[in-house]
Amino acid sequence: MEIVSYLIYLVASVCFIFGIKKLSSPKTARQGNQLSALGMLLAIVVTLIDQRIISYELIILGAIVGSAIGAVFALKVQMTGMPQMVGLLNGFGGGASALVAFAEYDRLFLGSGEFEISTTATIVLSILIGSVTFTGSLIAFGKLQGIVTGKVVKYPLQHPLNAFLLLAVFAAGVFVVINPSEIEIILGIIAVSLLLGVLLVLPIGGADMPVAISLLNSYSGIAASMTGFVLANNMLIIAGALVGASGLILTMIMCRGMNRSLMNVVLGGWASAGSEGPAPAGSSPKGQVKSVDAEELAMLLDSVSSVVFVPGYGMAVAQAQHAVRDLMNALEKKGIKVRFAIHPVAGRMPGHMNVLLAEAQVEYDKLLAMEDINDDFPNTDVAIIIGANDVVNPAARHDTSSPIYGMPILNVDYAKTVVINKRSLNVGYAGIDNELFFYPNALMYFGDAKDAMVKLTNELKQM
Ligand code: TAP
Repeated sequence: MEIVSYLIYLVASVCFIFGIKKLSSPKTARQGNQLSALGMLLAIVVTLIDQRIISYELIILGAIVGSAIGAVFALKVQMTGMPQMVGLLNGFGGGASALVAFAEYDRLFLGSGEFEISTTATIVLSILIGSVTFTGSLIAFGKLQGIVTGKVVKYPLQHPLNAFLLLAVFAAGVFVVINPSEIEIILGIIAVSLLLGVLLVLPIGGADMPVAISLLNSYSGIAASMTGFVLANNMLIIAGALVGASGLILTMIMCRGMNRSLMNVVLGGWASAGSEGPAPAGSSPKGQVKSVDAEELAMLLDSVSSVVFVPGYGMAVAQAQHAVRDLMNALEKKGIKVRFAIHPVAGRMPGHMNVLLAEAQVEYDKLLAMEDINDDFPNTDVAIIIGANDVVNPAARHDTSSPIYGMPILNVDYAKTVVINKRSLNVGYAGIDNELFFYPNALMYFGDAKDAMVKLTNELKQM
């Protein structure tokens, strides 16, 4: 039986690996999700059979209640609420790993009382990382949900205090590995780790949370992997390692896309991050902006042959993706070539724009990554920016004093005409003004993205 279990665990692990591989393209992402879910189902069934469980009542009850809550959340959550949903799930993953590790400690403590050094070490690591992930993720969820302040929270002796607690918890961990029967120390490690999770995530600005959540996702994988070592379960080790590594890679991609170091995000980053309000008085770039209304813009579009849409956070907030698809259809009916330029950190979560446009049934092959479209802007008649700001700010290319200097941007200003749809001249996530609005080839098309796109489509249809 043992060999059969190992083989099925191996199949489950292969499902996870290929599942993750398939997640890397929107075309195969659904299959990837299903394959990974199949792997998880196999793993759960084998574990339940293999571990000679005496009573299934509580397990079945837990599965029903958990699945029901999960299904309700998954069905009700808005696309814009996805980051906090993922954050919460990471937290539960970390918490579960810590609980399993503690239960195993308790079992060994009450049982033989004999501890292998490697087992105790992984128990301690699992408890530490799992507990930090649990409370850290709850704070991340609270920040994004508006329950906890989204501001950068500074507190006295922030860095020395965290460093001290981290050192203390590691020292206690080493002590427990040497003296495994000291349950009070284990309880102390749990308490300090829970506190650390709060203290480490509290200073991070609400708008930086997607990066923090991706990092916490990685932590939850590492905690699960450690628990795999505790339970000597290869499948859990592999699954945890996959989550840990992919979470870390995603975090690095996000940081690179924003031209920021992980430390900069983790230590509190841009003080103005997340600011949605107007730019501070007197700091706005000077000059004249040219604005157009729907009718004028429709007239312009009626005579062009290529359009590139550049969606951003504003499209997500306005839920304008369906209206954008209708505009795309109207333009294509007139024989205009339409494509979408997707910046890796447009919006507020990885793949944000891809998911929204896929939901609106925009074909995947029309969505081009920044590196694939950037050289084509000089050949584009009109670039239409829909609620994007930072990811098209040319200051990133030349203004060495700008906080986004060095961040790769979409070269929309190289298009013959750039149309910028947003509600005002207000700043975006990075809290900085955008000189693009004042460029000679730029036209502002003010308004809520959804209303603006609907009006434009109607005007275009009348031509
Ligand atoms: P932002 O720079 O945040 O700009 C969004 C713009 O949308 C705002 O300036 C706002 O201007 C406009 N807007 C808001 N509501 C709107 C509505 N209803 N209709 C039309 N426009 C609306 O967005 P971006 O260009 O997508 O850049 C994303 C930023 O988020 C980057 O700085 C990135 O580093 C950061 N970030 C991204 C991620 C990921 S993984 N995507 C994670 C963390 C941080 P008005 O108020 O004038 O309308």
